[in-house]
Amino acid sequence: MKRLCILISGSGSNLQALIDAIHAGDIAAEIVLVVSNRQTAYGLERAKQAGIPTLCFPFKKSQDRQQYDADLAERIRGNQVDLIVLAGWMHILSPAFLDAFPQRVINLHPALPGMFSGTHAIERAYQAYQEGAIIESGCMVHYAIPEVDMGAVITQATVPILPTDTLDEFETRMHQTEHQILVAAVKQLTEIGLS
Ligand code: GAR
Repeated sequence: MKRLCILISGSGSNLQALIDAIHAGDIAAEIVLVVSNRQTAYGLERAKQAGIPTLCFPFKKSQDRQQYDADLAERIRGNQVDLIVLAGWMHILSPAFLDAFPQRVINLHPALPGMFSGTHAIERAYQAYQEGAIIESGCMVHYAIPEVDMGAVITQATVPILPTDTLDEFETRMHQTEHQILVAAVKQLTEIGLS
C-alpha cells in the first residue's frame, strides 16, 4: 500500500476527491499525512473528518525560506511517504524541499502547460478568453520542480470556456476536471510509477 502525503492551503476539494477515490477502492493507497501552511484551511477539517493525521505548518515572514522548506521536508520524511501531492498548496518549494524527494512530488495546476503559472490561474484564463486571447483552458498534474507550476506533465485535460460562462460556471467545470485528473494521476503513479 503506497503512502501519500497531501499538501494543501485552502478548501481541499482535491484532497476530498482523493479521499473519496481511496474509500471507493479506486486508488490502492493510504493518505498518511495532510499538511497545510494555513491554519484556517478547510482541507484540514476534511482530513480530520476522514481520520487522517494533519500537520499545520505556517511559514512566518521572518523565517528563512530554505530553512522552512528543509524543516518541512524533515517533518514529512519521518512518515516514509511514497508520493507527495501538492493539491492547492500555495507556497513555492525550493530544492531544499524538492531534493529530499526526487521524482516524488507532483503538483496540480488549473491551467495547461506553460499557461497562467502562479496564483489566480482560473480568473486569468477567464479574462484572457474574454479578451479573445485563448479559446479554451485546462488543467494538469506534473512533477514539481523549483520553477512554479512547471515540470514534466503526468496528465492534462482541456476545459472549455463557453461564451455564456460566468466565472463561477467556468471555475466549477475546472474543479470537476481537476478532481478527475488528480485521481487519475495518483492512481497511475501508485500502480505503475513508484518503486
Ligand atoms: C485548485 O484549483 C488547484 O489547481 C489550485 O488551487 C486550487 C485548490 O483547490 N492550485 C494552484 O493554483 C497552484 N498554482 P482545493 O483547495 O479546493 O483543492
